Amino acid sequence: MKSLRVAILGATGAVGQEFLSLLEERKFPVAELELLASGRSAGKKVKFHGKEIAIEEARPESFEGIDLVLSSAGAGVSRQLVPAAVKQGAVVVDNTSAFRMDAGIPLVIPEINPEEMKKHKGIIANPNCSTIILAVPLYPLHKAARAKRVIVSTYQAASGAGMKAMLELEQQTHEILHGKPPTKQVFRHQIAFNLFSHDSAIREDGFTEEEYKMIQETRKIFRAPELKIVTTTIRVPVLRAHSESVVVDFERPLSEGEARKILEKAPGVEIIDRRKENYFPMPIEAAGKDPILVGRIRKDPSSENSLAFFVSGDQLRKGAALNALQIAELLFK
Ligand code: A2P
Repeated sequence: MKSLRVAILGATGAVGQEFLSLLEERKFPVAELELLASGRSAGKKVKFHGKEIAIEEARPESFEGIDLVLSSAGAGVSRQLVPAAVKQGAVVVDNTSAFRMDAGIPLVIPEINPEEMKKHKGIIANPNCSTIILAVPLYPLHKAARAKRVIVSTYQAASGAGMKAMLELEQQTHEILHGKPPTKQVFRHQIAFNLFSHDSAIREDGFTEEEYKMIQETRKIFRAPELKIVTTTIRVPVLRAHSESVVVDFERPLSEGEARKILEKAPGVEIIDRRKENYFPMPIEAAGKDPILVGRIRKDPSSENSLAFFVSGDQLRKGAALNALQIAELLFK
């Protein structure tokens, strides 16, 4: 791969920081790195490969000469700046919801639909973190036995709401353990020692935006507009890996053994399913790891062709920065 001029939009954020460590870890060929954030962060220094780089305020004209933009500064910022980056000749892998459901924009998980990337016209959308963590293990099972209906409940980490939300979980935990009232700035409800319905907006139909994203995006990625899927998204006091309980009705019976064999070979998946020890995927073990951990694989006795399983995946890595970087790696290969 030739060396690229890379910009990270949202470089000071939780996903932005993950981009920096993954670029180093995966030896991504970076010729030049531009770190962009809001004006509040301009001038702050960040280390990359041992060298300090100053954060710059992101502006429409920031992308001249840039080959690749890894973007994760929120949908509003993307809507405002990504078209300007594309105009200046960059390809943008966008980790926000701004363009995901646009018909002409590929929404890609490299393990599932890499061929979609060929259609890009400057923007490739990275799916929502909960969608990726569901889709990576579900897709190979869907390919084998065709999912008809999926029921998902999530247990989502604070990291999904950004760096400040992670700090809020730590701070509230500390405050409560020291007998102080918890400070609430990011989340409306107390996150330490509690859980609550996902903090995205509630739609008229009663679903949260997060739930709606999971439904729409999974259908788009699987090219299965008819797929029935119902989601319940919950924020839990975990720092950085999401977990999900999944029940799937397939078109034909899929035994536990067959599902396990499929998942053993599935890219991006690791099985942790040790019943005797009651040892299954846990967010603290998924954190910092690339694969989605899958376990509790079992036949659902309440429905003929139905199977249940449980997953944990690092929200900041495969759920966000890693997936986006894998897209970039394929694109510039
Ligand atoms: P900043 O740190 O300067 O606010 P997170 O998801 O962890 O909260 O991170 C959000 C990222 O998006 C941060 O890097 C943040 O920068 C950046 N960001 C927020 N608002 C803007 C903006 N208006 N222009 C550019 N970057 C922004």
